[in-house]
Amino acid sequence: MELSRRVLSVAPSITLAIAAKAKEMQSQGLNVVSLSAGEPDFDTPAFIKDAAIAALQKGATRYTPAVGTVELRQSICAKLKRDQGLTFTPEQIVVSVGAKHAIFNVFFALLNPEDEVIIPAPYWLSYPEMVTVLGGKSVCIPTTEATGFKITAEVLKKALTPKTKILVLNSPSNPTGAVYSKQELQNLVGVLKAFPKVLILSDEIYEKLIFDGGQHFSIAQLDPEIASRTIIVNGHSKAYAMTGWRLGYAAIPDKQLAKAVGSIQSHSTSNPTSFAQAGGIAALDHGDEDARRMRDVFQKRRDSFYDRIRAIPKLKPFKPQGAFYMFVNIAETGMDSITFSEKLLAEAHVALVPGGPFGADQYVRMSFACSDQNLEEAGRRLESWLKQAQPVHK
Ligand SMILES: Cc1ncc(COP(=O)(O)O)c(C=O)c1O
Repeated sequence: MELSRRVLSVAPSITLAIAAKAKEMQSQGLNVVSLSAGEPDFDTPAFIKDAAIAALQKGATRYTPAVGTVELRQSICAKLKRDQGLTFTPEQIVVSVGAKHAIFNVFFALLNPEDEVIIPAPYWLSYPEMVTVLGGKSVCIPTTEATGFKITAEVLKKALTPKTKILVLNSPSNPTGAVYSKQELQNLVGVLKAFPKVLILSDEIYEKLIFDGGQHFSIAQLDPEIASRTIIVNGHSKAYAMTGWRLGYAAIPDKQLAKAVGSIQSHSTSNPTSFAQAGGIAALDHGDEDARRMRDVFQKRRDSFYDRIRAIPKLKPFKPQGAFYMFVNIAETGMDSITFSEKLLAEAHVALVPGGPFGADQYVRMSFACSDQNLEEAGRRLESWLKQAQPVHK
């Protein structure tokens, strides 16, 4: 079978391969502890389900506008006003089948061959794959723990070129849990002002999961001119435990771009599922208390898991300020991230995600979106496995 050159440019996902291996082992009856989840382990709050069920029963079983119902888009505008103080109208909102889909559509509408997209590393691994498949060029700029895994003004300045079309920001970050402060974003604004053609794609999907009383800032809040070229992407998956509902959105200041994104969607998936959208309104309008409740549980787990992992020789966790991932430096084990992950799964039956595909091969990502018992058991297995594991370089 001759596949398209486009699809051949996409790297096979090692993350999915490890997840598949873990599933296979589980189906053979092995007790695998998984720290690989990219989704909350909570159920969607009942009132959100009820809203979707009620919508179904009232006949919400047909197509909606391709960009989402006007009611949901109004609710998104109200959320952006309430949380970010930003004014959008429903024509500037496109609701998609998850934030991943929203990002894909925005890249699709913007990228021409050779257009550069700056992606700070470590990054969510779908960004560069999407850029590649759409014919653009990812410019991945490394960050380190020294800057809290955040880009600085100096680093950004060096990476910007006349070919830069988009800068991707993701705060809180997957995989590091790093959160940009207002001042850090302000520093980036200072640089971006000199590059008026550069657009910013701000992925704020973990917005509601910030710990220690920290506050979320969108770069769009800091300067009206920057706001006019910032596309905010957000969604329901992580904040309201709605990953399976597939709801996400892009808030797009430029109406021509918003129209183009809507048009692409109208020719591919059409609208997100009608009754899911009704649940989506309930979540945005009344879900914040539940979001805070889940965040508080994640924070407790973050604290105990951080202490547990820090106590294991050779592992150096980075303390996340948001999201539900612990990014752990494994350099002292002498293994690269894929070797570490594969051996750990095969020998100690703990599944986690190697940092290599996220642009950080000295790290692994451990999700704490799972029960306290699982976290404890994973810590115990990691510790005893590392006592005897031999470094094997591939
Ligand atoms: C950084 C980031 N952005 C976007 C998404 C996409 O979320 P969804 O498509 O479920 O809305 C994810 C999911 O893992 C993510 O980690």
